[in-house]
Amino acid sequence: MDIVTVQNLHKTFGKGENAVHALAGIDLSIEKGKFTAIIGASGSGKTTLLNMMGGLDTPDEGEVVVDGVKLSGLKEKELAVFRRSKVGFVYQSFNLVPTLTVKENILFPLSLAGSTPDPTFFAEIMELLHLQDRLNAFPHELSGGGQQRVAIARALIAKPAIVLADEPTGNLDSKSGQNVLGLLKLSVETYHQTLVMITHNLEIAQMADRVIRIEDGRIRA
Ligand SMILES: Nc1ncnc2c1ncn2[C@@H]1O[C@H](COP(=O)(O)OP(=O)(O)O)[C@@H](O)[C@H]1O
Ligand SMILES: [Mg+2]
Repeated sequence: MDIVTVQNLHKTFGKGENAVHALAGIDLSIEKGKFTAIIGASGSGKTTLLNMMGGLDTPDEGEVVVDGVKLSGLKEKELAVFRRSKVGFVYQSFNLVPTLTVKENILFPLSLAGSTPDPTFFAEIMELLHLQDRLNAFPHELSGGGQQRVAIARALIAKPAIVLADEPTGNLDSKSGQNVLGLLKLSVETYHQTLVMITHNLEIAQMADRVIRIEDGRIRA
């Protein structure tokens, strides 16, 4: 079953001579419960594509449907609700709130939605990501790998339809990158969580169920 379908997606940034066709007609579907890697040179359109799937940016043309929700009709407020309820984001730069503890960071998106996690699931995720002893720490007290594990927990805790990760190991040394990635892969397998990850690292891409290569805003088989 496909959880995401993308049809004929076009996006141009800038005008006239300066126009950049970041997406030049992308058709794609993402299978539920699978780990899909997106690879391609810098500037090929990977982040733009991911942002469209996460409702962070809107296409000039084309359609994105995520878990039955057609994004093109949504207003900004509805997109915010969509992101909160359907998408978990993991960024290269972790994007944690420095003044909140690990636990508060992880629960932050849920608390915005006025919701709390199932305590058993919360405890499982903490254990899976080796965070159970760091719940009251602040982000700066953790290593880069530790901070990214917090960001992964935050993305998983609401059991979103999709987790979108944009070069999540890009700011980590190779050892902690491998470690974080191993844990991310274990978590998505344990919970049959759909994951779409952009990576530059071909070794990482080989861990995926499917690899999609983007070149100049198009998919290259
Ligand atoms: N907000 C923006 N304004 C102008 N150009 C942009 C913007 N976002 C992306 N681009 C351009 O679109 C192209 C694709 O960018 P991006 O999707 O970030 O590529 P990737 O993630 O593969 O490195 C690049 O040429 C980039 O400079
Ligand atoms: Mg990018």
